[in-house]
Amino acid sequence: MPADLNPIDKAKFIAAKRAVEFVEDGMKLGLGTGSTAAWMVRCLAERIREEGLRVVGVPTSSRTAELAASLGIRLSTLDDVKWLDLTIDGADEFDPNLNLIKGGGAALLQEKIVATASDQMIVIADAAKEVVQLGAFPLPVEVIPFGWQTTKALVEETLVSMDVLGRDVTLRMNGDKPLVTDEANYILDLHLNRIGNARQLALVLNQIPGVVENGLFIDICDIVVIGHADGRASVRDINTGRVEDDRVDFAPSDNIFADLE
Ligand code: 5RP
Repeated sequence: MPADLNPIDKAKFIAAKRAVEFVEDGMKLGLGTGSTAAWMVRCLAERIREEGLRVVGVPTSSRTAELAASLGIRLSTLDDVKWLDLTIDGADEFDPNLNLIKGGGAALLQEKIVATASDQMIVIADAAKEVVQLGAFPLPVEVIPFGWQTTKALVEETLVSMDVLGRDVTLRMNGDKPLVTDEANYILDLHLNRIGNARQLALVLNQIPGVVENGLFIDICDIVVIGHADGRASVRDINTGRVEDDRVDFAPSDNIFADLE
């Protein structure tokens, strides 16, 4: 591993490398989005190269599709494969029940569809993503551009009766224009500080016309793999209650960093 990787990237790499050990020959895989998921795509490509693993990946964003294709991972669409064995993705926050906030990378819609269509979802994260209660990270909500300001007003009105600490809602920008998702939608970021009842909020938000999906992943994640910069990986399985601490081999082949150069 290059010495110049910062501790957060090392931790993300360790989580990704450990999670990719769950991949078995012949699996259909959901490939997440974000910087941690990008490490997973690189680690997966390395296993494919070294072990001749035959897997097919369904990417959750154009960014992930591009990276995976450039590393020689065979790709398909959810419509073609219909159901997946395993999705590995990052998260912005996870709580003790492995409920998540996702969408910091604006890919929550495809990510939620793909994770829900998987037998198992593994989240990979550095320890900073662990929280006692969700909500410090602004909750992304994907909305259609048509009438988005009305949708935003309805979201704000809805938040008045919700158990949250903050109620600011902002449109995510890309420079001086609204950020446009892969599905040609906008993202509203809800600055809630603390979400008292994430399950209820997730249901209520999705009932607002114009809201396509929200970034709360409730009862979707099965396992979290937390990477540490010193090479430790903690694996927590919410279904079995199993908690394991492993050490991950720090020395990937230089190939794994090829796309970063
Ligand atoms: C993208 C996501 C990402 O998984 C999340 O933002 C975490 O990203 P990173 O691994 O870069 O911290 O939900 O929509």
